[in-house]
Amino acid sequence: MLDIYTLGEEVLQEKCQKVTKFDNALKILVDAMFDTMDEADGVGLAAPQVGVNQRLFVIHIRGAEKRAYINPQIIETSIETDTDEEGCLSIPGVWHDVQRPARVTVQAQDVEGKAFQVKAEGLLARALQHENDHLNGVLFIDRLSDEEREKMVQAYEKRNKSQRRKKR
Ligand code: NI
Repeated sequence: MLDIYTLGEEVLQEKCQKVTKFDNALKILVDAMFDTMDEADGVGLAAPQVGVNQRLFVIHIRGAEKRAYINPQIIETSIETDTDEEGCLSIPGVWHDVQRPARVTVQAQDVEGKAFQVKAEGLLARALQHENDHLNGVLFIDRLSDEEREKMVQAYEKRNKSQRRKKR
């Protein structure tokens, strides 16, 4: 199991680098990310959340296929938006409504480097956008107003003060 980095760690605010090697190390990382996400009961996990500055994430939505998205790009977004509650394994204990495009088309590569496209709506569209944001150093609370963001940070700090994970 990998350590999940939490709010305040620099790696969560950095723009990630493109994956260039589709080797065994990448497969091992992806498998470990799937295990870590499932163990933490999350629907998605991006590489910077486990301290890796690379453009990839995994998503596992109940009833849908588990999938790794390497070098993902959102190539189409709907004008229509949707608002729903989001949380993040890197900011445990807090949730907030976030408005995002209702539908997206994402192009990515699998662990072999093979390109694929996914058209998504609902929870998958939201998860794809949330995870893709992580690769650009953006957290869901960064999508809120300054005032709402500050409230979220305070709630997080209050709730997690006693149980904050030590830095590796
Ligand atoms: Ni997240």
